[in-house]
Parts: sequence; C-alpha cells; structure tokens
Amino acid sequence: MNTVIVGAQWGDEGKGKIIDILSKSAKYIVRYQGGNNAGHTVVVNGERFVFHLIPSAILHKDKICVIGNGVVVDPKALLEEIEVLKKQRIKVDRNNLKVSLNAHIVFPYHRILDKLRETKRANKIGTTGRGIGPCYSDKVSRCGIRLADLLNSRVLSCKLKDNLKEKNEIFSKVYNCKGFSFGDIYKEYLLYAAKLKEYACDTALLLNKVVKENKPILFEGAQGTFLDLDFGTYPFVTSSNAIVGGACSGTGISPDKIDKIIGVIKAYTTRVGEGPFPTEFTSDLLRKIRDKGKEFGATTGRPRRCGWFDAVMVKYAITINGICELAVMKLDVLDNLKVIKICTSYKYKGKIYRDFPLDFEIIQKASPVYEEHLGWQQSTEEIKRYKDLPLNARRYIERIERLLDTKIKYISVGSSRESTILRSG
Ligand code: GDP
Ligand code: IMO
Ligand code: MG
Repeated sequence: MNTVIVGAQWGDEGKGKIIDILSKSAKYIVRYQGGNNAGHTVVVNGERFVFHLIPSAILHKDKICVIGNGVVVDPKALLEEIEVLKKQRIKVDRNNLKVSLNAHIVFPYHRILDKLRETKRANKIGTTGRGIGPCYSDKVSRCGIRLADLLNSRVLSCKLKDNLKEKNEIFSKVYNCKGFSFGDIYKEYLLYAAKLKEYACDTALLLNKVVKENKPILFEGAQGTFLDLDFGTYPFVTSSNAIVGGACSGTGISPDKIDKIIGVIKAYTTRVGEGPFPTEFTSDLLRKIRDKGKEFGATTGRPRRCGWFDAVMVKYAITINGICELAVMKLDVLDNLKVIKICTSYKYKGKIYRDFPLDFEIIQKASPVYEEHLGWQQSTEEIKRYKDLPLNARRYIERIERLLDTKIKYISVGSSRESTILRSG
C-alpha cells in the first residue's frame, strides 16, 4: 500500500504528526517537494522534533527516509538538521537517509535573492526567506545545480561560474549590492559535497525497486494544496507542486503505483505569510486560538493567521488531490468555544460561490457564509475513543464529513502520538 499524505489547507495542518503515526506501517518515507521552508513537528514523550528536509519518520528505527528529486536541498540546512537530530540521539546515516542525485541545490545567492525580491515586490508574498523560489526558478530556467553536479567538482565549477556571472550582475545592477565570490562558494560547497556524498543515490531507481518488492512507501507532502504553485492562491503560494501530482514528478514513481491519498486538515484554518484568507478572524478569537493552538511557524516562528474551518477550500483540495480519507487535527484547540462556525460558501456582489473561485478579486473580497454549531466546552485532550468525544464535537466532525463527502479516519486532540483517535469502519 503506497500512501500520499497531503495538506489540504495552507500548510501546517499537522502532517508531521500523521506521518509519524502512519510510518509504522511503511518501510520507506519520502519527501517529494519543497525544501527547508517546511517545518514538520513530531512530539514524542514530551520531546519536540522539528523536521525541515528530512522525512519525519527518521525517529523510527527500521525506516528508510528519502529526499526525492522534487525537493530543493540547502546542504547547510540539511547538515545542520542531521547534527541536531544526532544531538537528540537519533541515528542518521547512509543506511536510513537517501538523497536524490537529481535534487536541486540551494545556494547563498538564492537565499539573498529571495529576500531582495520580497523587498521590491509591491504585494509581498511573505516567503520563509529560505531561497526556495529562486532555486526552483533556476531549475525551470535550466541553470540549476543538482546534487549530482555538486559531487563532480569540474561540473560544479563550470555551472557555478556561469550562474555567478549572471547573478552578480543582477545583484549589482538591479539591487545595487555586492555579489558573491566564486572561490568562497566553491570551497564551502565542496565541503558540503564531501559530507553529503554518502547519502546520494538515484532515488527513483531505489524507490521503483521498493515498489517491485511490494514494500510500502509513504509520501510526505510539504506545504498544502492552497500553497501549490498551480492550484493555490497564486501568487501567494510556494514554488512547487504540493498536491498529490508532485509525489510522482518529485520521486519518479508512476501514478498507478499510488494506492491511497490521505488529506490532513486542521479543525479550523491557519495561514503564515501574505495572501487572501476568506475566513480569517478579525476579533479577539484570533488571540484565543493562536495561544491555545500555539500557532507560530515551525520554521520562522512567525505568528500564524487563524480563522474558521473553510469547507469550500477543503472540498476543492479533496477534488484536486483525489483524497479518500481525512485526518482532522487540533480539535482540542476548539474545546473552550461556545459557538463554532463552518464556512459553506462565499458571497460576492450578491452571488453565492459554492466552489472555490479562481478569480483573485472574489477570493480576496468575498464574505464567507457560515453555519453555526454549538461548542462542547469541555476538554477532549485525554479522549482515546470516538464515542467518548462530547456529542457536539462528534456533531462537528460528522457535519464536516457530510459537507466534504469524505471519511474522517483520524482525529487528533493533542500534539503527542497518544492523543489520536482512530475511527473504525
Ligand atoms: P505540519 O507542517 O503540517 O507538519 O504542521 P506543523 O508541525 O508546522 O504544525 C502543527 C503544530 O500543531 C505542531 O506544533 C504540532 O505539534 C501541533 N499539533 C499537531 N496535532 C495537534 C493536535 O491535535 N492538538 C494540538 N494542540 N496540537 C497539535
Ligand atoms: P509546512 O510543510 C506554512 C508559505 C510562506 C509563504 C509562502 C511562500 O510546514 O506545512 P516560500 O518560502 O515557500 O517561497 O514561501 O508559503 N509556506 C508555508 N506555510 N507551512 C509551510 O510548510 C510553508 N512553506 C511555505 O509562509 O506564505
Ligand atoms: Mg509546518
């Protein structure tokens, strides 16, 4: 059984926690897109682990974690992540971590360009500043440098010189700032190459062999459907395909080898960075939910914007990804509320929109149409069985299920592994 886990909102849905739980029944766990803009959190016995590039399953002893060709790898960030994990007594070596030779490499000029472009933009995206957009731009422009290139000093030298010629002109003429020295970057990146060599391989060949041997693969999506380059709230998106399609192009696995797609959603909605957010809180509810849900970015620490659950968005994500099962996360964050709202459509200039509109003006200006539900006003944090949830919590879950016409299989009521309700049937 090969399963893809995708975020169905604007990222940070709790994918890390679900990956950690589901990786028990997989052998290989693969990241297929994004880079260290991602921050996936897993809490084990009170200890918090945050993953940026390495699949969240590295905590499990007998698993093999793969960084696919669709991921952009910042070698400095990856090596730091490995070091942090080692300090947390987690084994990371050539046997349990594999990195695609085709993965594109993030360079210092990508990080700087990311920040400079943001300062010039009239409508800022609010990127994570990790150089993700500029690195993917180079990949598409066919001037990117891949891990395979990094491992060959002659190829690296050639490609880096070529890139710096163009980039340094951009730095001086467009941004009026100093460029980069070839020698410094070359030296620094040869050191990274020496350290990353042991993890590098043709991960597409490896994974297709795994498929042939019928060993289960879990694909770990980063970001979420509404940050997807094609289907998100463009241009306020990331630069990769976070949707299920990215799992194939980002690993070299054929779509016919994917058996199941699980969508991860929060019981409400959050977003980090700029861009439209129809159900965003404007009242003191924002503070309440942000504090209780600890809604601060796992990568940048920025406060997350929060709002009501938006069924219009999630319905669209279910369609685009072919999601057959859902995991609803952070239900406990709503525990104290008297009334809980669900957005079922948008209204703009007298017209009702039940499907997610693609016209940017409508998404930005539409008013959400809500239905109201009574809260349960009691703690759900210790609850282990669905039938033990308060009646109004079950009504809320079942209403979402009906609106989305999709089974909710997992309900999470706390950040730890144990605070997870598995619904049977
Ligand atoms: P990801 O990027 O989708 O993996 O999500 P993040 O790790 O960025 O953000 C989710 C946050 O919510 C993390 O801090 C998790 O530890 C936490 N979390 C996950 N599930 C629950 C839950 O059910 N309840 C609460 N209170 N926290 C949760
Ligand atoms: P995980 O995997 C939430 C957002 C940024 C910004 C936009 C573009 O933890 O869910 P980028 O640096 O990618 O060019 O920024 O995307 N963003 C995320 N928001 N969770 C993430 O990852 C994100 N990765 C990027 O805040 O709005
Ligand atoms: Mg995150």
